[in-house]
Amino acid sequence: MKTIAINQYGSADEFTMVDMPTTEPQADEVQVAIHAFSLNPMDIAGRMGALSSPFTDLWAFPLVLGWDFAGVITKMGKAVTGFNIGDAVFGSAAPAHAANNGTYGEFITVNTKELAHLPAGLSFDQAAALPIAGLTAYYGMKHNLKLQSGQKILVQGGAGGVGLFAIQIAKAFGAYVATTASANHRDLLTRLGADEVIDYHETDPAAVLHDYDAVFDTVGDIDTGLKVLKADGQLATIAGQPTDGRAAT
Ligand SMILES: NC(=O)c1ccc[n+]([C@@H]2O[C@H](COP(=O)([O-])OP(=O)(O)OC[C@H]3O[C@@H](n4cnc5c(N)ncnc54)[C@H](OP(=O)(O)O)[C@@H]3O)[C@@H](O)[C@H]2O)c1
Repeated sequence: MKTIAINQYGSADEFTMVDMPTTEPQADEVQVAIHAFSLNPMDIAGRMGALSSPFTDLWAFPLVLGWDFAGVITKMGKAVTGFNIGDAVFGSAAPAHAANNGTYGEFITVNTKELAHLPAGLSFDQAAALPIAGLTAYYGMKHNLKLQSGQKILVQGGAGGVGLFAIQIAKAFGAYVATTASANHRDLLTRLGADEVIDYHETDPAAVLHDYDAVFDTVGDIDTGLKVLKADGQLATIAGQPTDGRAAT
């Protein structure tokens, strides 16, 4: 199959077309013809050599990167149920994938645990943009923050890949959602459901938001987030490293 691979870590100039073998599906795996894949920050980190175990455990050069994908099932293992050849699906490959089995190629072989059927009305391109960013936002709301209906949450970085999902998921959970973004993103974020959009270039969120139940930080500004929280509020970050002092706040 044709792939876009790298022969060493580095800039995007390292990408080159390489023919690689496909991987035959095991009993509980399917092979998917890739129609679309998406790029997340971990793709860039992988290309630059900034990821370590478990991501890199099976890697060698030439290396086909990529996790999120959408496509059509072309082969199935014997024990697969709930999917058929020809089904349109989307998903994200397991963190550790073999060097020839990333998504920047014509085919990927994945366990059915990593798959879902493509919902009606969603294009391959749209579906490929969902898994990692969407699941990161969902996990933050549901499991880290345990967000409840009626609570107030600040999503820092609402216009980012994860922030866009976080706003919509928090609204679906019934929360009141404030978010930070540049002024040109106000209309979009309001359409997605944000109750309040703060232009962080002009206004310090901590000056106008108080006693929030939750903060979801996607920009690494933990100190501002902590100032917005009420005493027993919760902050989850996907972009910063809390110090012991902050964790105790
Ligand atoms: N994407 C993922 O799947 C994923 C998964 C796990 C962790 N992460 C981590 O999460 C972080 C965010 O990733 P992402 O992909 O969501 O980001 P992204 O799409 O690269 O976000 C870019 C946006 O961040 C906004 N921004 C930058 N500084 C800001 C600030 N001080 N306050 C408010 N907004 C600010 C800007 O919005 P404006 O243009 O409106 O200014 C910019 O458009 C990264 O550290 C990434 O490594 C990402």
